[in-house]
Amino acid sequence: MGTLILFILFSVLFAPATSTNRTLSNGLSLSSEKPEDVLTSPNGVFSAGFYPVGDNAYCFAIWFASRTSRSQDRTVVWMANRDQPVNGRKSKLSLLRTGNLILTDAGKFTVWETNTVSISSLELRLSDAGNLVLRTLGGGSLWESFDFPTDTLLPQRFLTSDTKLVSSRSQTNYSSGFYKLLFDNDNVLCLLYDRANISSRYWPEPWLTPGQAQRFVYNSSRIAVLDSFGNFSSSDKFTFSSTDYGQLLHRRLTLDYDGNLRLYSWDEEGEMWVVSWQASQVPCIIHGVCGANGICSYVPDIGRKCSCLPGYKMINHTDWSQGCEPEFDLSFGKNKFDFWLLSYLDYYGFDYGSYHNFTLAQCKELCLGLPECKAFQYTFSREQGRSSCYPKTLLMNGHRHSFPGSFYLRVPKKNLLKLLSNANLAENIGLNCSSVGPLLLERVYLKNRVNGTVKFMLWLVQPNYIKWVKLSLIVSILTHL
Ligand SMILES: *[C@@H]1O[C@H](CO)[C@@H](O)[C@H](O)[C@H]1NC(C)=O
Ligand SMILES: *[C@@H]1O[C@H](CO)[C@@H](O)[C@H](O)[C@H]1NC(C)=O
Ligand SMILES: *[C@@H]1O[C@H](CO)[C@@H](O)[C@H](O)[C@H]1NC(C)=O
Ligand SMILES: *[C@@H]1O[C@H](CO)[C@@H](O)[C@H](O)[C@H]1NC(C)=O
Ligand SMILES: *[C@@H]1O[C@H](CO)[C@@H](O)[C@H](O)[C@H]1NC(C)=O
Ligand SMILES: *[C@@H]1O[C@H](CO)[C@@H](O)[C@H](O)[C@H]1NC(C)=O
Ligand SMILES: *[C@@H]1O[C@H](CO)[C@@H](O)[C@H](O)[C@H]1NC(C)=O
Ligand SMILES: *[C@@H]1O[C@H](CO)[C@@H](O)[C@H](O)[C@H]1NC(C)=O
Ligand SMILES: *[C@@H]1O[C@H](CO)[C@@H](O)[C@H](O)[C@H]1NC(C)=O
Repeated sequence: MGTLILFILFSVLFAPATSTNRTLSNGLSLSSEKPEDVLTSPNGVFSAGFYPVGDNAYCFAIWFASRTSRSQDRTVVWMANRDQPVNGRKSKLSLLRTGNLILTDAGKFTVWETNTVSISSLELRLSDAGNLVLRTLGGGSLWESFDFPTDTLLPQRFLTSDTKLVSSRSQTNYSSGFYKLLFDNDNVLCLLYDRANISSRYWPEPWLTPGQAQRFVYNSSRIAVLDSFGNFSSSDKFTFSSTDYGQLLHRRLTLDYDGNLRLYSWDEEGEMWVVSWQASQVPCIIHGVCGANGICSYVPDIGRKCSCLPGYKMINHTDWSQGCEPEFDLSFGKNKFDFWLLSYLDYYGFDYGSYHNFTLAQCKELCLGLPECKAFQYTFSREQGRSSCYPKTLLMNGHRHSFPGSFYLRVPKKNLLKLLSNANLAENIGLNCSSVGPLLLERVYLKNRVNGTVKFMLWLVQPNYIKWVKLSLIVSILTHL
């Protein structure tokens, strides 16, 4: 009887250790055909193996799976070949005797490699922090995944001048998207929308100088790090502490596919990731959301919603980032155009120039004279007795809010009447933005020392028609678990 109990105890204690692979040695490989071929960190929190990303498509990935978690959910924190998934059959990650770590697709092509060389024996090991390290048996590291992040920064991993985070394409498509977190040439840690021929910075707020955004441009060490307590600090003096700062939790800083940078903490009890900080509180300020000629609006409980400018139609019905195209011909003679005033619209960037003390008529004339002018923004400041005219060559980053001025869209005269008669459009375009603004919900779990089950919820509410006001904080709902 005693032996049986001892045996059960023994199996319970040691079974996990024997059934998981801790290291991969020279001459061995992990196969895409064997689900049990994964490397696991000693604390059991991270695993590395072939992760399904589509129909018979796999990426070699590192994922987080809390040991205590009952659910099968895995959170990918790194990928080797995000832009080139491999076949589920005969694909392998092999550590060659030459010291190179290679990923082969369907037993044929090398789709990814570390390009490492070593004559001594090597091993590939996943650390407790989630770092996949290729090292000599003596402990010297030749390559580590922390030096090549994808969309996630884990605690203790440094973001440097050589590394950046790149969002994934969509919630279900892990390949490289258009949003990047990196140190720019001026040493400022920033978020960029970056496509083939369009690149624009949207965080820190682009209308502020780095100084106004409290960023320090004179430290060129370009280094940023997150700790497990929820503190983030960067060499440009940008720092933040998470709303649950001080607790030792599993955390990840992820540049999400929607272009927002979020810090998540793992809630053991709820078995889910909880947002404990985010870069942008106004979702529509993130660039590129609705593509060219699109308009982003925030709908409470639903999120961001895209629409097209009047007279424009969506280019690809499954992908808003491709934007909208005009339904009319914008190329013919100057006298055939007029302008339609649309209020509460702001298109950031792509100005042909800024022209001060222009009358509205002069601004119209200027735009009509430029073949590439799609619209213009016109502001008048009574205090300064000064007006400004901004002709736009590309209508990107459009969103609804009270830009202190007016937006004039260039439309062929013959289309204008038709557009104006379409009553629905005016409503769609939202001539009234003073209705409900974005409602963002942040939840913070604070462990009560005595009870441990008191949950605070912190609501962040910001009406989108006031751009520069501070967040109004409305606290708090108390619930019991
Ligand atoms: C990993 O562990 C499984 C189960 O113990 C075993 O079948 C497999 O051969 C191991 N793979 C490697 C590469 O060591
Ligand atoms: C993911 O997006 C990329 C780029 O648009 C595309 O080439 C690829 O086929 C997509 N992958 C899947 C699995 O949909
Ligand atoms: C970007 O490139 C695409 C295709 O090459 C082109 O249609 C588009 O006009 C370009 N945009 C700009 C702003 O140059
Ligand atoms: C967290 O950050 C704040 C502000 O940068 C700093 O004062 C504090 O010492 C940090 N705490 C830890 C534990 O690093
Ligand atoms: C630059 O930033 C790094 C990282 O935050 C810091 O260690 C270093 O002291 C800073 N250098 C100067 C000159 O302030
Ligand atoms: C629309 O976009 C999706 C995703 O980028 C792409 O797979 C599809 O081919 C596009 N459709 C058209 C008609 O261009
Ligand atoms: C615009 O007009 C105002 C008032 O007449 C004047 O003070 C200001 O200098 C002018 N600005 C430019 C750029 O000409
Ligand atoms: C705009 O909407 C708000 C809230 O729905 C309403 O109170 C206000 O009267 C509206 N203003 C106009 C000009 O329609
Ligand atoms: C924890 O809080 C709940 C609800 O406030 C209360 O019913 C319970 O008695 C508390 N438990 C302890 C151990 O204080």
